[in-house]
Amino acid sequence: MKAVISSTGLWTPDDSISNDELVEAFNAYVDKWNAQNAAAIEAGTLDALAPSSAEFIEKASGIKSRYVLSKDPILDPDIMAPRIPARPDGEPSVLAEMAVAAARDALNRAGKSASDVDAVIVACSNLQRGYPAIAVEVQALLGIDGFGFDMNVACSSATFGLEAARGLIYGGQAGSVLVLNPEICTAHLNFKDRDSHFIFGDVATAILVEREDIAPDSHWEIIGAKLVTQFSNNIRNNFGFLNHTAPEDDGFHGERGRKGLTDKLFVQNGRSVFKEVVPMVARLISTEAQKLGLDPNTLKRLWLHQANLNMNVLIAKKVLGKEVSTEQAPVVLDEYANTSSAGSIIAFHKHSGDFADGETGLICSFGAGYSAGAVFVRKVGQTQ
Ligand code: COA
Repeated sequence: MKAVISSTGLWTPDDSISNDELVEAFNAYVDKWNAQNAAAIEAGTLDALAPSSAEFIEKASGIKSRYVLSKDPILDPDIMAPRIPARPDGEPSVLAEMAVAAARDALNRAGKSASDVDAVIVACSNLQRGYPAIAVEVQALLGIDGFGFDMNVACSSATFGLEAARGLIYGGQAGSVLVLNPEICTAHLNFKDRDSHFIFGDVATAILVEREDIAPDSHWEIIGAKLVTQFSNNIRNNFGFLNHTAPEDDGFHGERGRKGLTDKLFVQNGRSVFKEVVPMVARLISTEAQKLGLDPNTLKRLWLHQANLNMNVLIAKKVLGKEVSTEQAPVVLDEYANTSSAGSIIAFHKHSGDFADGETGLICSFGAGYSAGAVFVRKVGQTQ
């Protein structure tokens, strides 16, 4: 009995923000802040804020734009954060709604309905509440008999979720599992931080993992997979119920994290991440490929985590021993930016339609933890 990938799904917000738009808003904020603090800057007690640049962002990261749930407030120099209205408990949560949209897309593509599904895993970096699990809410919204649970392995949540789904199938708990990755990354991003204000976007992806005998004829065999974690503080978010400030109900999600408490938002030491994660991931892929008897050069495509273009180029070069084209290692971060766990799944979803029966590829995630997951897949049947 094997577990295979039957299909994937994608939900993309309507609004996007280009680098130029983002930088214009950031620089307006900087000008205003510097003017307000002119005396202290002049006296040398405060450092003036430096402007951002669209050229830097594209060169340093490969990002050109990002989809967002709440565009105008992010671009308002007086707000610089999403403003997602809080909803009463009786209404579907934002995260569950996004997950449901991606799930429906995956189900449609596999020719399945919610009644075929036994379990839901919501695997993402940015869970909007402690409990009840978003996955159980999604289960209710879709009308699924069975069970659901949430898990968070930061940017590697999708590959870890995929492996958790395989485990449930091997253990006999489920025959069909939806792994969902709704990411509201903009709500944990500090849009006033020049070093990172450009990094993230919002999106949701879905992966339908099923027992081979009930999967559609056209699916993806999982040849092998390997997960790894190694503790690091270089990418961190301290938000949690032990350390939030006293509640101030202003009617918006996430406001407490923005009252100047920047360590409750995303922080990273980008240079160190780059230096430490590239070799870790290259080693993971090479070692696992060798164990599986796979020559990485025979992989038609590498669907890598989408955090930084230069990072992906380097990882691919270390693994394959040569420069790779965007045909072989597709890029979606130019359009989507970093969408945490969803990035490699968007790349797989959008750039796998040309696979013939028997062709192989690699889905690979990496990020906070550190965490990394490598999933080697083989196309079975023709793409429909
Ligand atoms: N606009 C213009 N210049 C900027 C800038 C901005 N928005 N942000 C930083 N700079 C400047 C810095 O001040 C610095 O100037 P200096 O050399 O005069 O001091 C210079 O650009 C280089 O800054 P640095 O932070 O070292 O840039 P970088 O080349 O390391 O790129 C990242 C930054 C974040 C894009 C890159 O480190 C990265 O992507 N790392 C991996 C991140 C990752 O994968 N994280 C996982 C998240 S889940």
